[in-house]
Amino acid sequence: MDLGKIEKLYSENFDKFGIDSKSVGWNSPNTQQLRFEKLLMVVQNRSESFSLNELGCGYGELFKYATLNGYNINLFNGYDISEKMLLAAKDYLNDSKAVFFKEASIITKADYTITSGIFNVKFDEQKDRWETYIKDTLKNMFENSNKGMSFNLLTKYVDFEAKDLYYADPLYYFDFCKKELSRYVNLIHDYNLYEWTIIVKK
Ligand SMILES: C[S@@+](CC[C@H](N)C(=O)[O-])C[C@H]1O[C@@H](n2cnc3c(N)ncnc32)[C@H](O)[C@@H]1O
Repeated sequence: MDLGKIEKLYSENFDKFGIDSKSVGWNSPNTQQLRFEKLLMVVQNRSESFSLNELGCGYGELFKYATLNGYNINLFNGYDISEKMLLAAKDYLNDSKAVFFKEASIITKADYTITSGIFNVKFDEQKDRWETYIKDTLKNMFENSNKGMSFNLLTKYVDFEAKDLYYADPLYYFDFCKKELSRYVNLIHDYNLYEWTIIVKK
């Protein structure tokens, strides 16, 4: 999958907004954090010490949020395709437990793997090609997770669709995760965003 346009979008956003939820496509820190709250439900027990991969870490807000909210991360592998985001994250987090990779898929094993928002903007990519990319990425995330993974997508239950965004059927992805990945799948679609989160445990 050519992610060039996506890399450009977020790098330019960073030039415009800097360390701000708007840089990573969210209109407020509150909605960014609500997403993190749901995605971190994959962690069995808040007091456990765990390693975490994040695919599409942006400037690193998930690590910051998790640490401030009592999660005990012993190693954070942050991945992004935007060099600007990675440099910003390194500087913003300034923590020896956080290391970074300029890669479009996961190459490190960790207890959990999380991704937030990377599947939303598809530009003019064909729907079936985009869906194959999503499913390949979910498999890659799951294979590299010892305990589980979580991801979110815009929901198809909307009354307006922007042309360059991808709106996903949660039932399709629930079924995919159940059949292809694990027996332990949780679909969360009861929070106040036009999105849903899926958690897959091993
Ligand atoms: C919507 S932003 C979210 C950032 C962060 N997860 C947050 O919520 O604050 C998506 C980020 O993922 C990056 N990205 C998109 N697709 C990616 C991929 N396949 N691999 C790594 N990074 C990706 C983008 O460059 C961007 O920084």
